[in-house]
Amino acid sequence: MTQNNADDIADFGFRSVPREEKSTLVREVFDSVAGKYDIMNDLMSLGIHRLWKREFLTALDPRPYHKLLDLAAGTGDITFGWLKRGGGPVVMSDINESMLNVGRDRATANGHLADIEFLVTDAEAIKLPDSSFDRISMAFGLRNCTNKDKVIAEAQRLLRPGGRFMVLEFSQLQIAGLEKLYDAWSFQALPKIGGIIAKDSASYQYLAESIRMFPKQEELKRMFEAAGFERVTYRNLSGGIAAIHAGWKL
Ligand SMILES: C[S@@+](CC[C@H](N)C(=O)[O-])C[C@H]1O[C@@H](n2cnc3c(N)ncnc32)[C@H](O)[C@@H]1O
Repeated sequence: MTQNNADDIADFGFRSVPREEKSTLVREVFDSVAGKYDIMNDLMSLGIHRLWKREFLTALDPRPYHKLLDLAAGTGDITFGWLKRGGGPVVMSDINESMLNVGRDRATANGHLADIEFLVTDAEAIKLPDSSFDRISMAFGLRNCTNKDKVIAEAQRLLRPGGRFMVLEFSQLQIAGLEKLYDAWSFQALPKIGGIIAKDSASYQYLAESIRMFPKQEELKRMFEAAGFERVTYRNLSGGIAAIHAGWKL
């Protein structure tokens, strides 16, 4: 009889699943919600995700001579924000073709198609040459990856010296008095809204659970440092509901 050990299992929200099954389960979540993803983001965060993304883009500091790899780009908010602010060419990548297809339609509509290369890839193993980007972004994507250390190592490999990896992700709320309200919103309201709008409450239950399972601010900082990133920082947004993590490849 073979025994499960920690290397064989991964968390999928609060459930433990065989490691090789997690990416299929995550893909099913985003296949299911792709068409309603943008409206659900506005509803679930009461529009606040737009402010977080604005802060993230300011920190990314788009420049015309910088090339961006947007990991887990989904429907493209970061890619389009980067281009709108005058950033250079983008490789917009995601493991899920249905999310990228929504992004492609948006790029056609907003005239940015020529500035973007689309790439379907798992962020844990990216078939691109070393040292080919100045900035790598990942917004609300790392949480969904099975092996987060592999993603961070890929970012380190793909950046040019002087390049910066930036992650925007849900994190640990730092305001003690708000915990009950935040839990009620996450575990009761979100699945209900997901059930009504996206006809899929289970995916939004997963969302709430995956946020709680994600490494907290200091732990993610240590993971960046272990992968060789320098001057690693994080900045809490909305009292730690989300945070911007950043590290330089020097
Ligand atoms: C919450 S969405 C974020 C989309 C976009 N970055 C944004 O901020 O709106 C998460 C995205 O991560 C993608 N994803 C999940 N696992 C992935 C993996 N292993 N590699 C690359 N993308 C992944 C999903 O397909 C989905 O599009």
